[in-house]
This record gives sequence, C-alpha cells and structure tokens, in this order.
Amino acid sequence: MFPKKVSIVEVGPRDGLQNEKLALTASQKIKLIELLSDTGLKRIEAGSFVSPKWVPQMANSGEVFKALNAREGIQYSALTPNLRGLEAAIESGVKEVAVFGAATESFSQKNINCSISESLKRFEAVFSMANENDIKVRGYVSCVMGCPYEGEVSPEAVSKVSKSMIDMGCYEVSLGDTIGVGTPLKTRLLLESVLNEVTVDKLAAHFHDTYGQALVNLYTALEYGVSTIDSAVAGLGGCPYAKGASGNVATEDVLYMLDGMGVSTGVDMKSLLKASSYISDTLGRAPISKVANALLAK
Ligand code: HMG
Ligand code: MG
Repeated sequence: MFPKKVSIVEVGPRDGLQNEKLALTASQKIKLIELLSDTGLKRIEAGSFVSPKWVPQMANSGEVFKALNAREGIQYSALTPNLRGLEAAIESGVKEVAVFGAATESFSQKNINCSISESLKRFEAVFSMANENDIKVRGYVSCVMGCPYEGEVSPEAVSKVSKSMIDMGCYEVSLGDTIGVGTPLKTRLLLESVLNEVTVDKLAAHFHDTYGQALVNLYTALEYGVSTIDSAVAGLGGCPYAKGASGNVATEDVLYMLDGMGVSTGVDMKSLLKASSYISDTLGRAPISKVANALLAK
C-alpha cells in the first residue's frame, strides 16, 4: 500500500528563501545547499531564474549555481518561467529546471502575469530549448486544493493542467497546495481525479503547512502511492504571490514520519538538523518544525 521508498525534493533554498524578508547572500545560500548535500538528499531545488523585480530574494541564483560545488549524484534544480529564465539557467550550469503553472486563472495572472493557456504556450518554448540542451523539466501546478483569490478549486481543473504539463514533456508534476488549505478528504478527491490522467510515478506532493494539515495530507497521498514529496528544511517558505501562505512542510517532520513508518529516504536526520540549525541561526529564529525543535532540545 505505502511506497517502500520516498524521494524527498528539498525546496527550502528556493521556495523557502524566496519568501524570507532577509535576502541571503550567495555564500549563505551555498553554505545551506552544501549542508543539505551532506544529508543524503538527492534532489535540491536551489534557486529560480525569475524577474528580480518580482522576487528579489532569488536575484543571485546565477551566482549560487555558478559557485556551487555540485556533488555527484545530486540533482540541483531551478525554476524557469520562460525562455529568458532557461537561458540564464543554462548559462549558470543548471541541468534540471521546473516550469510552474496554476489551476486557477487568478493565481496564474498574479504569479506569472499571464493566463493558464498563455503559460502553457510559454512552457512549450522552454521545453523545446530544454530538450535541445538535454535538460530535464519538472512541472508545478499551484493552488491544487484552494486558491487565495478564487477559493475552492475543482480537482478536474488540476487534472487538466497536470495532464497538459505531462503531455508537453514534464517528467513529473508536483501538486502544490500553495496556501496549505487542504485536508485529507480534499487530498483524496484531488488524487482520485488527477490519477485518472497522470500515473502515480509521475506525481509529487508539494504541501504547505499553513493550516497544520500537511503531514496528514501527505500520509493520505502516500496511501495512494505517491512517492515523491517536496519539503523545506526548517519549514522555510511560502509564496510571495499568495498572502498568508506559510512554509512548506518541514523536511524534518516528513523525515520523522517516514522513518517511523519504515519508509526509506536515504536522508539522515542528524545531518539534516545541522542544515536546519544553520539556516535558522542565519535567519535569527527557531526552526518552524516541531521535530527539529524537539530533537535540538535534547
Ligand atoms: P512579465 O512582467 O509579464 O514579463 O513577468 P516580461 O517578459 O514582460 O518582462 C518584464 C521584465 O522582467 C523585463 O525587465 C524582463 O527583462 C524581465 P524590465 O524590462 O522591466 O527591466 N524578465 C526576467 N528577468 C529575469 N529572469 C527572467 C525574466 N523574464 C522576464 N526569467 C515573469 C513574467 C514570469 C518573468 C514574472 O511574472 C515573474 O518573474 N514571476 C515569478 C513569480 C515567482 O517566482 N513566484 C514564486 C515561484 S512559484 C511558487 O512559489 C509556487 C510553487 O512553490 C508551487 C506551490 O507552492 O504551489 C512552485
Ligand atoms: Mg510552494
């Protein structure tokens, strides 16, 4: 029933840091990414090539990728909303990128300044250049269980965009509960619908913990066989275009749950806590993770 193995995609250096008031320097980001690289994580989203006017915290992503001592066997990825972003990513040595769309028109407009269908057109150009350069493309769909502007979101709207992204060439689609409003029932209804269009091996769960539901929603997704989970060390995160969206589910919390279920991840908690302490100290606050706080207090 549950997958035996789960691949954790660490999104803290991107999804987390994009929403912090304090913009980190490239060397601070690199230190965090290196500590994360010591944990056994195999996938780390390390930045994004978006407009610095829209998300100033990510403006130094090129510098980060260029100076990063990329480890063998670890995939470091970046968000690229358009060709301009992909070109900059390639120039910085990035080998995997992600395009990001949404299940609602309002969120699409606020986040990437275009409609859903225009976004898919932009992604086509990204796919074609990515293919030419042997770059893997992941896809995100935001607002899968609720939208800050439109409220309820139909699972069918999510299935439709997810299928389009897979048909266009994404090797995986990550389902973003951007504002963390999902519940286990909503997660179930969502997956019942999306699984009609996309096979489970191509799905990832990207849940924010705004309402404290992320772990139980992930448990529900695991019951459906989802075996890729996005999370952020120390519970960093949010989205600059979704007011009130708090952090991604903490990697420490996900790891503790999976370890307790006997699901293997290859990630070592002790090493993860080092990354958690480093970023929390740098930001001047405690980790937003019950597990991290409990373990660090021992
Ligand atoms: P636009 O204004 O429609 O684009 O923005 P444009 O093509 O008209 O360009 C406007 C300006 O941006 C120009 O500069 C371009 O050169 C520049 P200006 O002439 O004004 O000086 N520009 C760029 N600069 C750097 N890199 C680029 C780039 N493209 C254009 N790639 C655009 C469209 C997509 C660029 C903009 O809306 C944008 O950057 N949006 C990014 C928003 C973002 O990063 N949001 C957070 C990530 S998504 C997320 O967090 C959700 C997720 O975690 C899943 C979940 O939780 O649901 C993934
Ligand atoms: Mg997110």
